[in-house]
Amino acid sequence: MANLTIRKLDDAIRDELRLRAARNGRSVEDEVRVILRDAAQQQPHEPQTVPRTPLPMLAKSALPAGEPAHGLPRVTLIIGGGIAAYKALDLIRRLKERHIEVRCVLTKAAQQFVTALAASALSHQRVHTDLFDPESEFDAGHIRLARDADLIVVAPATADLMAKMAQGHANDLASAILLAANRPILLAPAMNPLMWNNAATRRNVMQLRRDGVAMVGPNAGEMAEAAEAGVGRMAEPTEIAAAAEHLLRPPRSRPLKGKRVLITAGPTHEAIDPVRYIANRSSGKQGFAIAAAAEAAGADVLLISGPVDLAAPAGVSVTHLESARQMLQRAEAALPVDVAIFAAAVADWRVAHEGEQKLKKAAAGTPRLELVENPDILATISKLRDKRPGLVIGFAAETENLIENAKAKLARKGCDWILANDVSPALGVMGGDRNTVHLLTRNGAEIAVDSWAAMTKEQVAAKLIAHIAKAVEKAS
Ligand SMILES: Cc1cc2nc3c(=O)[nH]c(=O)nc-3n(C[C@H](O)[C@H](O)[C@H](O)COP(=O)(O)O)c2cc1C
Repeated sequence: MANLTIRKLDDAIRDELRLRAARNGRSVEDEVRVILRDAAQQQPHEPQTVPRTPLPMLAKSALPAGEPAHGLPRVTLIIGGGIAAYKALDLIRRLKERHIEVRCVLTKAAQQFVTALAASALSHQRVHTDLFDPESEFDAGHIRLARDADLIVVAPATADLMAKMAQGHANDLASAILLAANRPILLAPAMNPLMWNNAATRRNVMQLRRDGVAMVGPNAGEMAEAAEAGVGRMAEPTEIAAAAEHLLRPPRSRPLKGKRVLITAGPTHEAIDPVRYIANRSSGKQGFAIAAAAEAAGADVLLISGPVDLAAPAGVSVTHLESARQMLQRAEAALPVDVAIFAAAVADWRVAHEGEQKLKKAAAGTPRLELVENPDILATISKLRDKRPGLVIGFAAETENLIENAKAKLARKGCDWILANDVSPALGVMGGDRNTVHLLTRNGAEIAVDSWAAMTKEQVAAKLIAHIAKAVEKAS
């Protein structure tokens, strides 16, 4: 196995490594081991090339749920050379009204209908017209225009541009951007009805749809250029802007709307005296991620946390407390709830006699700490008669015999599901950002085990919430 010399890494990577290691309470060397192990476990490996992914996949995965990290969503608007190009100027305004940044590209033919000056004045951005533009191409501008956007809109999409797209041509700026794009593409076709109905255009439209390109319009109506009517009018700018916004900010599905979900997270601290306590290494990250995912699914979330250093997820109110007994009391007070997820690493024991003053070193020798059992929050809530939540989920953090121990825990505690994870220190789960879990569910006397691949705690949370949403839907 080759040795890795941290000193030889770039400063930025080294700093990031040190930060990560400090955050996770590991040495830099251990942190590197965890990263390498996680990378090796990740299945399947990310492809090296960016395929031209069909829109439905990109709309879900490439576009963030909220606004993108770089600020307002960005559209590259390609204006084609059709009579409807004048409406593209209004489209710039309609997109900006919806707080979408617009960068325009005009084809050579488009410049016969509208000016780059008008597009630039309305978009407040430089307009691009030339593939061989030395000012823009010093950093591969055509690739940047394709990739820096969250969505590419072509309006009007001429018959000629669609033919080039369908064939994969790249002999001008617009077609090169469209071929290099790894973002969703929305076309607003506009042409004479005979052009739209021509067999060649029909073939191209079908091919583009198969390639995952989205379309809005064309509408039926009168043509601008002649006393002709039929299908071929470009969709109105407001329709195109609405379609673009739908792709940029897809409506969130809220399957847990109206459901109350109780979640516990983090460790508990069991006081020995006013300054000392018994604790564990739980960071609370998994419980907080579940709370965020439940909130995103529309649930009314009550998060009860032991002492952790995490910000409350947006829209979630957190109750902070210290001990197992306080946690049980607060959980009982939160009932009734529809779903309860006990992700907290609750201390099994506390000291029998908490010192009122700080324990002192004494000649009599080292004090003996007598331990007593803490209340079992998961079992207590699972065995309630009146206010038992419809679905009770526990966590089994084990360092050996993971599945057997988790199965026994599921039976013993009386909960419905258990998420079992191996928290052996070498795996870096406690305090780390990734988790490998097994979902154990009860079906009568049978226990089913569903083993999930290693993933981030946010991904575990999203997957768990999706399972819960299905179960809730089935039960109602
Ligand atoms: C007055 C006029 C109007 C045109 N309108 C359209 C149109 O609405 N749709 C279309 O597909 N082509 C239209 N064309 C033909 C295109 O301008 C031509 O196919 C051009 O090569 C398109 O280039 P582009 O796709 O690079 O923008 C029109 C041409 C003229 C002269």
